[in-house]
Amino acid sequence: MRKSSQKIVCIGAGYVGGPTMAVIADRCPDLQVTVLDVNLERIKAWNSDALPVLEPGLDQVVARARRRNLRFIPQAEGASYLAEADLIFISVQTPTKTTGRGAGKASDLKYVEAAARLIAQYAQGNVVVVEKSTMPVRAADRIKEILKQSKSRAKFDVLSNPEFLAEGTAIQDLEHPDRVLIGGENARAIDKLVQVYRRWVSKEKIITTSLWSAELAKLAANAFLAQRVSSINAMSALCEKTEADVEEVAQVIGLDSRIGPKFLKASVGFGGSCFKKDLLSLVYLCEHHGLPEVAAYWEQVYHLNEWQKQRFMQAVARHARRGTVAVLGLAFKKNTNDFRESAALDVCRGLLQSGFKVQVYDPAVDFERFADFLGRPVRLVHASTVPEALVGAKAVAVLTEWDEFKQLPWAKWRRLLARTAVIFDGRSILNQQALAKVGLEVRTLGRTRPL
Ligand SMILES: NC(=O)c1ccc[n+]([C@@H]2O[C@H](COP(=O)([O-])OP(=O)(O)OC[C@H]3O[C@@H](n4cnc5c(N)ncnc54)[C@H](O)[C@@H]3O)[C@@H](O)[C@H]2O)c1
Repeated sequence: MRKSSQKIVCIGAGYVGGPTMAVIADRCPDLQVTVLDVNLERIKAWNSDALPVLEPGLDQVVARARRRNLRFIPQAEGASYLAEADLIFISVQTPTKTTGRGAGKASDLKYVEAAARLIAQYAQGNVVVVEKSTMPVRAADRIKEILKQSKSRAKFDVLSNPEFLAEGTAIQDLEHPDRVLIGGENARAIDKLVQVYRRWVSKEKIITTSLWSAELAKLAANAFLAQRVSSINAMSALCEKTEADVEEVAQVIGLDSRIGPKFLKASVGFGGSCFKKDLLSLVYLCEHHGLPEVAAYWEQVYHLNEWQKQRFMQAVARHARRGTVAVLGLAFKKNTNDFRESAALDVCRGLLQSGFKVQVYDPAVDFERFADFLGRPVRLVHASTVPEALVGAKAVAVLTEWDEFKQLPWAKWRRLLARTAVIFDGRSILNQQALAKVGLEVRTLGRTRPL
């Protein structure tokens, strides 16, 4: 029998820390799970009915566990919880550095280092520190160095347990993971974490490796996923020149069992907080270790993605001339309110800089935060419904694959648009033939010549 007093603390209540801890608490009712954050607004939201993260199924999981063994509290009130913790997860952000050595590519570990200092200050006894954030390979060395300076007599083991959840399907991914990866050096510490996951994950799916393999495997997994997106997007551009159809090409490629069908949809590019920063972190690591050819290989995956967003934006701008553009979808993918690194940011920024009025609609993204991020341009206009966004538009850019965009009553709304309006489907979700019947032309990446 497991002892029933195990206590878990997680530093960081963001898109990963919040849902991950909620699922752990839900699946392990005998564990006490406490999530700390410096962002008081976020903590308040986690304790309310309007959670700060939109994820299908998250509300129910949080509601069940919050009544019992899950709490969200301000970091400043976390000392006693840290002192009693058996396992402490670090789930803070690891963004790209903006200044100093490696600026523009390397991961900024200042939030991780601050979390490690907090642990060094308050933790006591035998503590397993778990890297949940995505780290550059060998970052655990830095955490260990900070923990060594602890004044308490705590004994620390550091594990790497990177998170593979995808936003939009986070709860499904956490409850039924493809694999759980745990890297470490001390078998007892590894087993302590394995026993947490074993409550709901089968043994074969829990992979244990060295610390360094675990850290690198997470970066490698994101780089491979991003590479697939850039590969099919590269094909989409060639399809437009040759009258090949990227959906047909993707279907044929995907039927090869060595390749498989997933992640082969041409689009306006990948977004989200992770792919770009993790790719750049990998590029920096390769450069740092004297591997310029390897660095250049992975960097091109990133450049192709930037190019795809730009060429899409320019196609919209060419058609709309100086008129109004409707943007449908600000989130980087459906079923999330996250717009970090979304295609919408780049497309809107480019259009606004070229003088367009841009009317935007998204069912989940907070417009005020989106507008703040772009510096509150006056020509960026919020629409609270799709038809409001369409009024007077010369071009419509569909940038998120929200289900509600797949079946819009275009026949009814056709008259809202400018007479010559064209729809640019950046996610290949619209029915071209159906729209043609109501006199609307749809241009789709890799399927229309010219885009
Ligand atoms: N978002 C994803 O889909 C995803 C998936 C897998 C892995 N990851 C990785 O997980 C990590 C976290 O990502 P996220 O999307 O949850 O980031 P996030 O920005 O949503 O959340 C991080 C949280 O940590 C808090 N924080 C920072 N320093 C703190 C401190 N010293 N004490 C207490 N709280 C502190 C911040 O206030 C913030 O709320 C990153 O390394 C990311 O690469 C993210």
